Amino acid sequence: MLRPSVLGMSDAIVVEGLVKRYGGTTALDGVDLTAAEGSVLGLLGPNGAGKTTVVRILTTLLKADAGRAEVLGLDVVRDGDAVRASIGLTGQYAAVDEYLTGVENLEMVGRLYRLGRRQARARAGELLERFDLAGAADRPAKTYSGGMRRRLDIAASLIARPRVLFLDEPTTGLDPRSRLGMWEFIADLADGGTTILLTTQYLEEADRLADRMVVIDHGQVIARGTADELKAQVGGQRLEFTVTTAAVLPDIAARLRGLAVDEPQVDEQARRLTLPVSGGAEILAEALQRLDGYTAEIFDVGLRRPDLDDVFLALTGHAAEAAATDDDPRTEPAVTGGVR
Ligand SMILES: Nc1ncnc2c1ncn2[C@@H]1O[C@H](COP(=O)(O)OP(=O)(O)OP(=O)(O)O)[C@@H](O)[C@H]1O
Ligand SMILES: [Mg+2]
Repeated sequence: MLRPSVLGMSDAIVVEGLVKRYGGTTALDGVDLTAAEGSVLGLLGPNGAGKTTVVRILTTLLKADAGRAEVLGLDVVRDGDAVRASIGLTGQYAAVDEYLTGVENLEMVGRLYRLGRRQARARAGELLERFDLAGAADRPAKTYSGGMRRRLDIAASLIARPRVLFLDEPTTGLDPRSRLGMWEFIADLADGGTTILLTTQYLEEADRLADRMVVIDHGQVIARGTADELKAQVGGQRLEFTVTTAAVLPDIAARLRGLAVDEPQVDEQARRLTLPVSGGAEILAEALQRLDGYTAEIFDVGLRRPDLDDVFLALTGHAAEAAATDDDPRTEPAVTGGVR
């Protein structure tokens, strides 16, 4: 859903024809995207799609080989300093200094942004409070849990009250409860008017937070639109069976194959079979009839609209969650530049 503030506003992020090569690898192959001021743009794509490369170019950490990128009307190459002064970045991997305490980490970043000592301290205190880290403010960051580090990392990117915030997989590695908390922080920031570009492997996250989405694969945009537009593009319904033992899945899939309009998906771990179907309850009745004799093994049955995971699967040929390689936000040494 578009935030009302988004309507009629100009674009805070403009990317046109972006190309980036690493030796023989083309990481970006002509990417175009825009994000309206005050909106949240979700940048989705499997591992290696080019998401981080887009973020690094927009945050001036990397130069493109062709194309242009602007943030708040400023060219990321020509006006790099001005861009850095108006953005915040939370990179894919945590950039907190392990040996500094929470408050020291934030003060250091505040000083990098040229805040006065007292101002940096005040802002650090405010952010620690807001991110539920006040109680741990005086402990070295190495004693923090993964979720606390991630929160500290995001707090650091907000020190200078950026108008545009880049979040590269902000909740990877967080447990479900911490993830919910992070979503609330991000939604609050968006409601406060901050423009946000968010990359994520969690499609529910994009669905919850993003006004619009751009899906990239192999460095090219393969789809864009609101969540509803993307779901409508995939269309139909999903018939889903959860069974008591994965052993019966192949046989069930074989019996139902004729009902599916596309390849059925089998998730052995979840003991679940998902069939793209066109039609409603009559398909469900037909399916149950074909499964006569398996009633004891069927644990749950449902008919639902496609979700973003189905969209992702249809577009890229693989599931989003399976594409995630790393559950833990890895730690890198703190960046000692103007941009984190
Ligand atoms: N410094 C580098 N040197 C060489 N190749 C690179 C470098 N950085 C990225 N690549 C390649 O560029 C492509 C895009 O990488 P990028 O990190 O932007 O993907 P991503 O969408 O962020 O992936 P992930 O979901 O794993 O974070 C990949 O093929 C990657 O191997
Ligand atoms: Mg990445």
